[in-house]
Formats: sequence, C-alpha cells, structure tokens
Amino acid sequence: MRTRVSDRLGVEFPVLAFSHCRDVVAAVTNAGGFGVLGGVVHTPERLEIDLSWIEDQTRGRPFGVDLLLPSKYEGADEGGLDRDAVRHLVPPQQQAFVDDVLRRYGVPAGAGPDDGAAGLEVLRVSPKGYEPLLEVAFAHRIALIASALGPPPPALIERAHAAGVTVAALAGTVAHAERHNAAGVDIIVAQGTEAGGHTGEIATMVLVPDVVDAVHPTPVVAAGGIACGRQIAAAFALGAEGVWCGSVWLTTEEAETHPVVKRKFLDASASDTVRSRSLTGKPARMLRSAWTDEWARDDAPPPLPMPVQGALVADAQRRIARAAASTPGAGQLANYFVGQVVGRLDRIRPARQVLIDMVTEYADVVERFAAQAQEPR
Ligand SMILES: Cc1cc2nc3c(=O)[nH]c(=O)nc-3n(C[C@H](O)[C@H](O)[C@H](O)COP(=O)(O)O)c2cc1C
Repeated sequence: MRTRVSDRLGVEFPVLAFSHCRDVVAAVTNAGGFGVLGGVVHTPERLEIDLSWIEDQTRGRPFGVDLLLPSKYEGADEGGLDRDAVRHLVPPQQQAFVDDVLRRYGVPAGAGPDDGAAGLEVLRVSPKGYEPLLEVAFAHRIALIASALGPPPPALIERAHAAGVTVAALAGTVAHAERHNAAGVDIIVAQGTEAGGHTGEIATMVLVPDVVDAVHPTPVVAAGGIACGRQIAAAFALGAEGVWCGSVWLTTEEAETHPVVKRKFLDASASDTVRSRSLTGKPARMLRSAWTDEWARDDAPPPLPMPVQGALVADAQRRIARAAASTPGAGQLANYFVGQVVGRLDRIRPARQVLIDMVTEYADVVERFAAQAQEPR
C-alpha cells in the first residue's frame, strides 16, 4: 500500500479518515492510517482541547485538520458575519416553515442546555470564523491541513509550507482540482457525488482518473463511496494514491453519531441518501428522512444560502436530536450527513477494526489479481 501519499504523510496505510469526532481520528492514526479532524463546527477553545487530546493519544503519529473555506457564502464581502448578524438574515417564511414542521411532527420545545447537537449555526466558514481555528491548528503538531468547498487562500498555503504542513483540498470537478493544483496544493482529494457531506454531481469512478490526469504529477486521493478494501483497490486502479473516507466511521464504536441516527444508518440501503440543501444551504448528501422529504415538497420554501440555512435549522436540529429517542415524529425527522456506502454499514465495529478489515480485504484483492495474472490461459 506504499504510495507517495503514505510516504509524504509518514503513515503505514494511505487511508485518510475524516471525522468530526476526535476518538475516531486518534483510533485511525494509532492503527496506521491518518486521522483528519473536521473542525468547522468547533469553537477555538474546543479545537484546542481536542487537538491536545489527539496529540496525547497518538504520541507522535501524524494527523490533520480540515476546515470549510467556501469561496461563496452570505457575507463574503464583509469577510463574514457574526452569529447574530446571520440570525437576522433568516426570513419569516423559512422560519415559519421550520416551526410548522416541528409542530406537525410533535417535536417538543427546546428546553435544556445548548448541547451543540449539530452545531450548524456556528459553521466557521468565513475568515472571521476560521482564522482563530487556524491559529489553534498551527499551534499543534498537525501534519496536514485540508480545505473543502474552495481553494485554500495563498497565505494559508504559504504558512502551511513554512511549517512543513501538507496542504490538501477537496475537489468535485476537474476544474476545482486544477484550481487547487495551480494554487500549490500538495494532495488533491477527488470526491465523487456518492460521498457523504457537501458533494458535487460526478461519480468517483469518473472523477478520479480525470483528476489524476489533469493534475499530474500532483498526487490524488479518492473520496466518496469507499468503505471496504475492494473499493480501495478500485481507487488505486483509477490512479489514486490514497483514499479519504468519511461515512464508514459514523457507525464505529467511537463515533459520536446520535444513537437513533446510527440505528438508521445500520438499517439503510445505498438508495436511502439524498443530496439536499436543507442542513447547510449547499448541496450535501445525507440520509433521507422526513426532514429532507419536507424540504423537497413543492410548497416548501427554498433553502437559504450558507451559513444562513445553518442558523435557521440549528435550533430545530438540536430539538430533534434531544427528542429523537422518545418522540416518534422527532425520530422520523432525525438524519445526518452520510454517503451511499451507508448500505454497507451493517454492524458496529471499533474504528481500528474497520481500518484493519479494509486493509486486509485490499491485500486479498491484490493477491487475487497477482494470481490471476500468473494463471495459464
Ligand atoms: C458526517 C459527515 C460530515 C462531513 N463534513 C465535512 C467537513 O466538515 N469538511 C469536509 O471537508 N468534508 C466533510 N465531509 C466529507 C468527507 O470529508 C469525505 O469527503 C466524504 O465523507 C467521503 O465520502 P464517503 O462519505 O463516501 O466516505 C463530511 C462527510 C460526512 C459523512
């Protein structure tokens, strides 16, 4: 499994694990993969705590941090809006729609502490939001910084390179990948539409070889639809030198996935996801639920731009999460980002075991190919 990506990152397996959950990041890094902590919903204080914890747990093994750096979002001209300003941009029509959905599904009013369930209203997508996170990240021994939804700004690339930190960026089209490559990004993550989270429209199978050819000799990592060793082998056959997985960690023992949603993931098939703007304002793949169905209705208002949609739905998502186990309607609405590989997620395993199973199956495929090549005709 040795590639330029595993050499550059200093890992045994070029399997990159994206997760918002520090336990998953540490577990995968300790098992020989490379954990990447998604930091977009972290406060700087929380990021400091989590990165210190990961450092302690991983004892010198490498890990990274991922942020959303979109080129287009509401308030971009002002360098970003604070939380109150974003809330003021929520129109009454969309607020009334969300209130009506919660009422019809019998979701109880939001009493209790702000447990930050989805954390969507604090998406730190503007320089005002993410620069404090970068300060924290660079104060730790990160080996990689990744950006999604837009190319990393030149100052960030310069800063990372001066600190010996590898820069990765997610691309959903060849044009995105070429832009990242021209900006000086070290590793391009070609992410197909089947991925969980924000995603484009082109499938991994089509996207990866196109991106590999377009950015040659920059190494490419494949993302979207990879949850087992056969899929890793396929990604390598397409020219990728590593894989970047998100969904597969959501049903691990370590994952912070809401128990009701975890159960839904375990029961879901590959047909049960949908690309929807209903959680963040940009198209993101998530589990189909009553929530996405309501937003897809003909009479539903259009979702708002990022980050206003997040501010609109954050409180509703918290209420749904709190009541999901006890109120059937809230259980019906509950969902989360996940990719089409959700269909393969049918049991709870430790993250370390998931990585071992993937790598073992990959080795089986390689052996099978080698044996087939030697068989007499
Ligand atoms: C729950 C979840 C949240 C995600 N959040 C982010 C994010 O904040 N930043 C990011 O770059 N990618 C995010 N992604 C996308 C992943 O980085 C990754 O590209 C994707 O999960 C790969 O496809 P897969 O889900 O089929 O493994 C998220 C994915 C999931 C499943």
